[in-house]
Amino acid sequence: MLESYPILLSIVTSLLFIVLLLAVLIRNNGWAAILWNEIVLQKITNFIMAQSKEERILNFVLQNAVRGDPQSVLDTIDKYCSQKEWAMNVGDEKGLILDKILEETKPSVLLELGTYCGYSAVRIARLLNPSARFLTIEFNPAFAAIARQMIEFAGVQDKVKILEGPSETIIPQLKKKHEVDTLDFVFLDHWKDRYMPDTILLLDHGLLRKGSVILADNVIVPGAPEFIKYIRNNNRFECTNYPAHVEYMKVKDAMEKAVFVG
Ligand SMILES: C[S@@+](CC[C@H](N)C(=O)[O-])C[C@H]1O[C@@H](n2cnc3c(N)ncnc32)[C@H](O)[C@@H]1O
Repeated sequence: MLESYPILLSIVTSLLFIVLLLAVLIRNNGWAAILWNEIVLQKITNFIMAQSKEERILNFVLQNAVRGDPQSVLDTIDKYCSQKEWAMNVGDEKGLILDKILEETKPSVLLELGTYCGYSAVRIARLLNPSARFLTIEFNPAFAAIARQMIEFAGVQDKVKILEGPSETIIPQLKKKHEVDTLDFVFLDHWKDRYMPDTILLLDHGLLRKGSVILADNVIVPGAPEFIKYIRNNNRFECTNYPAHVEYMKVKDAMEKAVFVG
């Protein structure tokens, strides 16, 4: 029995060291904190509360925002996600870049890839003129259901249509099934490995016209290196980079605007 003490002691010391290392990492690194929250804490909270984070965000909005006031919905989501639980909305800082580009572009036909809880959909819809058409694609039915309620609460349900399914299936159907001719504005904010193939799909299906604007979020974190290389080396696009930070964090991120020049 006594002989096993040194082994036991080294196991306990190693475990303590690992826990300490993790604690330091989580405390000093925003991304480690997010991963810890998303992978461990959130699962425990969801289990205890029998509710997903997205349901908690929606409930916070229903209880604290003003019905029919999109800005109040955005402010309330930003408040929850900066103070209580981080979530992957475009957020207030990059949201201002999105607003500015929309105000400059004045698009009439818009597509968003990646609806999530509907934050950016509400953000975009509130700036559109009444005749604009705005489609947003989401493949997670639970997120689409939350977004539907968020959009309805914000009072912009007549300006946004959620299409449920994978972008790679829906993009080829846009012309025939959804009567889209060409798109004036595309917001890329779904999984980053789809940015490049979906841009190629948009081109192959004749959905971009001279002057169409593509705006891509998160080109640094998590990053979309394939897309960035493709779009910046393609003389059919003129690119501009907009430095910013990851939503609700101090970590550097950026958005990339690519204008299709034909
Ligand atoms: C970063 S979130 C979108 C955030 C949202 N645009 C906002 O700012 O409020 C990404 C979303 O894209 C969805 N998604 C990822 N890949 C997709 C795909 N290929 N087709 C449709 N939805 C996708 C995910 O389920 C997730 O809800």
